[in-house]
Amino acid sequence: MLFICFFIFFYMTTTSTSVDRLAVTQSIRDGETLASAGGIIEAGFFSPGNSIRRYLGIWYRNVSPFIVVWVANRNTPLENKSGVLKLNEKGVLELLNATNNTIWSSNIVSSNAVNNPIACLFDSGNFVVKNSEDGVLWQSFDYPGDTLMPGIKLGWNLETGLERSISSWKSDDDPAEGEYAIKIDLRGLPQMIEFKGSDIRMRTGSWNGLTTVGYPSPTPLLIRKFVVNEKEVYYEYEIIKKSMFIVSKLTPSGITQSFSWTNQTSTPQVVQNGEKDQCENYAFCGANSICIYDDNYLTCECLRGYVPKSPDEWNIRIWFDGCIRRNKSDCKISYTDGFLKYSHLKLPDTSSSWFSNTMNLDECQKSCLENCSCKAYANLDIRNGGSGCLLWFNT
Ligand SMILES: *[C@@H]1O[C@H](CO)[C@@H](O)[C@H](O)[C@H]1NC(C)=O
Ligand SMILES: *[C@@H]1O[C@H](CO)[C@@H](O)[C@H](O)[C@H]1NC(C)=O
Ligand SMILES: *[C@@H]1O[C@H](CO)[C@@H](O)[C@H](O)[C@H]1NC(C)=O
Ligand SMILES: *[C@@H]1O[C@H](CO)[C@@H](O)[C@H](O)[C@H]1NC(C)=O
Ligand SMILES: *[C@@H]1O[C@H](CO)[C@@H](O)[C@H](O)[C@H]1NC(C)=O
Ligand SMILES: *[C@@H]1O[C@H](CO)[C@@H](O)[C@H](O)[C@H]1NC(C)=O
Repeated sequence: MLFICFFIFFYMTTTSTSVDRLAVTQSIRDGETLASAGGIIEAGFFSPGNSIRRYLGIWYRNVSPFIVVWVANRNTPLENKSGVLKLNEKGVLELLNATNNTIWSSNIVSSNAVNNPIACLFDSGNFVVKNSEDGVLWQSFDYPGDTLMPGIKLGWNLETGLERSISSWKSDDDPAEGEYAIKIDLRGLPQMIEFKGSDIRMRTGSWNGLTTVGYPSPTPLLIRKFVVNEKEVYYEYEIIKKSMFIVSKLTPSGITQSFSWTNQTSTPQVVQNGEKDQCENYAFCGANSICIYDDNYLTCECLRGYVPKSPDEWNIRIWFDGCIRRNKSDCKISYTDGFLKYSHLKLPDTSSSWFSNTMNLDECQKSCLENCSCKAYANLDIRNGGSGCLLWFNT
């Protein structure tokens, strides 16, 4: 008995102390895995939930419950356990089924030369095909699934046109692309938006240099970045503590859940559940209004100077028509009305906004007054007393 246990243990360790890389002509089949050098991440075949179909995925090793962070063939499942992953001499990963048909492959978008390609699985969770000069030919972080993790740049490479977005699974049993997606919208000041199909379900709120107002970080151990320049527009986060792990998943029902664990506990806990209240729903109160959720009571209020567009409906808590100006005014009247200051609010939708990094708040106000269709202004960045200018326009 002892011998058998030892034998099984030995067998298990020899098969599971798998390598972290795949060279040309090498392959892994169902039952075999790749493991990152530090043993944190594993790649191999799995069946999600109650499904019997097989998928090539990446997950955290020795973490329970099992958290899959990436799936290669999410829309093209294998019907049984005869899948094989290979790297071909062109540097393309190919997933073959029982009849040797390619059911999924990585593409090559990079202009790096293909020589002696190798596919490496890193402790970060990134699966990278690179050439002998370490030039990246393809990486899984450029094609995220339903999971955001440190190192993934959610957003755009403006030079290549590559968009990285998150999309939910159809169900816990089916990783195929579901209804919900989180993307960076490039219109106006770029912002992060959750879509349900083509409808906006929620805005996480605009970045103010420190955070997204109304969508705070789940823990102070997380450093968030929102980068906007000529080459790239993306959101990314990193974790201060090496021993800590935090990943965010967009669930099949469109809720963002953040899971956290440490290398000691290895049991993920939900640290943030994106769904807070109905004020999160896009345009829940309609235009020109404020959604207030306090003490379990939700109400919508028109901005000062505005009245409900449909008062009868508004009075019975049907809010989606929103509010209109009390005084149907031309530009001159709005000039005399002046501006009213609001604080501690999520910034309004910036898809019809304009921004400047260099203007100050006075110049910003002046510029807004000069344009009849300008409705509001704000600092772009609240750090160091505030800088930059953000203007909202009528659409
Ligand atoms: C998978 O299915 C194919 C075709 O039905 C069959 O030839 C093959 O033996 C099956 N493989 C396994 C591991 O069941
Ligand atoms: C392998 O994939 C091809 C192409 O999608 C399909 O026609 C074939 O039936 C698949 N074979 C098996 C055994 O599933
Ligand atoms: C698939 O390819 C492998 C390796 O090239 C070969 O041994 C096997 O016979 C092929 N199977 C089929 C069904 O063509
Ligand atoms: C956890 O991670 C920390 C920091 O990397 C390391 O010092 C420590 O040894 C790790 N502990 C375990 C149990 O792996
Ligand atoms: C509209 O604004 C003007 C000037 O501020 C004011 O005199 C007038 O009473 C307002 N009308 C309404 C209906 O509030
Ligand atoms: C006001 O701003 C809008 C949006 O940026 C622009 O299209 C329009 O030309 C501006 N009007 C004036 C008078 O500057």
